[in-house]
Amino acid sequence: MMKKKIILLGPPGAGKGTQAKRIVEKTGLLHLSTGDILRDEVARGTELGKQAKAYMDRGDLVPDELIIGMIRGRIENADGFILDGFPRTVAQAEALEQITPVDVVIDIELERDEVIRRLSSRRVCRNCGKIYNLISNPPKLDGKCDACGGELYQRDDDRPEVIENRYDVYTSSTAPLIEFYRSRGLLVEVDGKADPDAIFARIMEIIGG
Ligand code: AP5
Repeated sequence: MMKKKIILLGPPGAGKGTQAKRIVEKTGLLHLSTGDILRDEVARGTELGKQAKAYMDRGDLVPDELIIGMIRGRIENADGFILDGFPRTVAQAEALEQITPVDVVIDIELERDEVIRRLSSRRVCRNCGKIYNLISNPPKLDGKCDACGGELYQRDDDRPEVIENRYDVYTSSTAPLIEFYRSRGLLVEVDGKADPDAIFARIMEIIGG
């Protein structure tokens, strides 16, 4: 099994979750999506979920202390992982450096108009988490997951006004990480407009899988 420590960076809707799931199937790496962990906390009504929900519904970032506390225990003893949606601020990246070094940061690039188009038409399986797109990757049966038959739903933060705020938050708070990791010689850029198979092939080339 692969033992690399990989960060997937990129704007909302760039395809981080789509690619992370494929990488995990191929390599067995541990997939840590801070968005998925937070949505699970919200669904279970935990204290963290209650604190995070209002930020997520607006498309704002959940405060750094909550995120770092949530992720630390999951990564400090792991041999390898794919981080999807973390770090998202310079403070989170600095905290991660204190916890463990990473091998590579893959930045999936996508422009604003395409982000908005993709997220408005995204659907996700409530049961297994498989990601669909009504335009580019629709399910065979309306509203049903091809893989498990589960119900497909639209995320609360995939509403137009929230998508726009998420993109703006990405630009102001997360995009500075591109320079942060470039200056450390860890950054590799990938064109997110390409076909998902081509992006996956490129990522496997980068991580040596
Ligand atoms: P999170 O869940 O991390 O959302 P995100 O970063 O906005 O990313 P997405 O899940 O929207 O997009 P993705 O890049 O995974 O794209 P996907 O593969 O689904 O975070 C949600 C919220 O949680 C945040 O707003 C914040 O409040 C909070 N949060 C999370 N982490 C945090 C942190 N570290 N700090 C603070 N707060 C945090 O693809 C999108 C669509 O495009 C799909 O429909 C897919 O089918 C389609 N698609 C994918 N690839 C392609 C392709 N190549 N061509 C055509 N279509 C494609």
